[in-house]
Amino acid sequence: MSDVRSEILLRCISCGREFPADSIIYFCGDCGNLLDVVGDIGRLNPIELKNLWASRKFTMWRYRELIPVEREPITLHEGGTPLYRAEKAARWADVKNLYVKFEGGNPTGSFKDRGMSVAITKSLELGRETVICASTGNTSSSMAAYAAAAGVKAIVLVPRGRVAAGKLFQTMLHGAETYTVDEGFDTALQTVLSSSRESGIYILNSVNPWRIEGQKTLAYEVWEVLGDGEYVVSVPVGNCGNISAIWKGFKELEMVGLARTHPRLVGVQAEGASPFVDMVRRGDERLIPVESPRTIASAIRIGKPVNWLKALRAIRESEGLVEKVSDEMILEAQRLLASGEGIGVEPASAASLAGVKKLREQGLLDRSETVVCVATGHALKDPNPDLVPNKPRESSYLARR
Ligand code: F0G
Repeated sequence: MSDVRSEILLRCISCGREFPADSIIYFCGDCGNLLDVVGDIGRLNPIELKNLWASRKFTMWRYRELIPVEREPITLHEGGTPLYRAEKAARWADVKNLYVKFEGGNPTGSFKDRGMSVAITKSLELGRETVICASTGNTSSSMAAYAAAAGVKAIVLVPRGRVAAGKLFQTMLHGAETYTVDEGFDTALQTVLSSSRESGIYILNSVNPWRIEGQKTLAYEVWEVLGDGEYVVSVPVGNCGNISAIWKGFKELEMVGLARTHPRLVGVQAEGASPFVDMVRRGDERLIPVESPRTIASAIRIGKPVNWLKALRAIRESEGLVEKVSDEMILEAQRLLASGEGIGVEPASAASLAGVKKLREQGLLDRSETVVCVATGHALKDPNPDLVPNKPRESSYLARR
């Protein structure tokens, strides 16, 4: 079957100006807004596609007709992650059905691998020999691993002392040249954007539209199991890239004619880092940055999310919801998933479940809903034994049980 690669281009999400697919740009030259990868997917045959996908093994590359790369991909077998039925979590959040899409099952332990597989493949197509990103730790771990697999040089900027141990270790182990900034993620990203303007080094943060092309495949996987969209998908939100990507995936299923409806999306932020949720609740289109974002969930400790406009459209077009949750609730959700369901996720990932519970408590979500909580990263990413009440005891206690 043919695919969409020949007509691919980049289109500004605001003014609609189009750029050739091989342009090395992240923002529109006219209005400065973000870009989307677009192709003529409406002419693909949905029945042929469905059969083709079902015949392939379960990694994200089974959807390759909708992943616009030219060359053989750089892959570590990303995607194809489990979708667990979680009954205790459903009871805890007070909804009828609850599933957890466990992105910790990806090669480096987070959803970023989907985007990096595509973006690193694109880097090679574009002849880029060095890639760069700012990160709260998962993007850098993933980029470092995929750069290693591709033989490309990786440069990383992270906030000093504020990246979880597991993530910093991965980033270094995979060989990325790592720099720290005294401020938070937002400053690190600004530094990356301005340094790359001078150096031309290829940026692999989620401003890079090819990252989104990989991350959208989560939607295809959920759709393959749950079918058309009579459900809610809850996503932890930091820089607003992943929720935008997941929405693009669901929309594309409709455009291709595979789905008739789409799920509603729920975006969840931590209370101390919630500029996106606050903007949606105000009902305007003006993101007011949070200068010193605070939360235990370091992955989403972000005060100025660059992809906010894409994410705003995801919430509005899907008739979705937003919520912000306390660190206490995030940790409670994390413990519930781990000790009640056997699913180990990092704190940021547990925000998706905590958000669903809070929306239920406020009556903003119906009890009859089926909910998919995206668990974005593995528990081992951010180990903190001090936060777990279940402490090890001396072995002499064992005899006295
Ligand atoms: N969950 C985890 C575990 C993350 O690492 C991130 C983002 C998010 C959720 C939020 O996704 O930014 O697309 O809205 N981590 C980035 C990083 C910022 O550098 O690893 P988003």
